[in-house]
Amino acid sequence: MDGRERDTDLIRAAMEAREQAYAPYSGYLVGAALLTEDGEIYQGCNIENASYGAANCAERTAFFKAVSQGKRDFRAIAVVGGSREARQGDGFPDMAYPCGICRQVMREFCGPDFRILVGRSPEDFKEYTLDELLPESFGPARM
Ligand code: THU
Repeated sequence: MDGRERDTDLIRAAMEAREQAYAPYSGYLVGAALLTEDGEIYQGCNIENASYGAANCAERTAFFKAVSQGKRDFRAIAVVGGSREARQGDGFPDMAYPCGICRQVMREFCGPDFRILVGRSPEDFKEYTLDELLPESFGPARM
């Protein structure tokens, strides 16, 4: 399996995770799939709350699941998102970029070359490094 195929699989895993999103307030469903250094995938979805500020993003759900299972080393995360009505076949109209808080959580555990894939579909995604999406960042002294 080459790198492109693995990336496509990671986007697919994020799309699968999005199916579990609990977003009755915003109606915006997000899925994430986090690839660990040892090749495992942790999926996450956004989980909202009647007290709006208590919502958790898909990316942080995936990170907190993985970290709480003892994982500390990560290679990449894929993120997809769109409203309930937005899904068109195998894709979405827009890329879903990680929010600032999620980028900071990534910064806690990942190096500058950690890869962030934002996708409209498994065939249509963009790739960034954490350093590109969170330049000149503050974090633990190992970046
Ligand atoms: N959301 C995510 O899950 N990830 C992001 O990076 C951006 C926003 C969620 C939070 C909230 O449940 C909904 O999308 C609308 O903001």
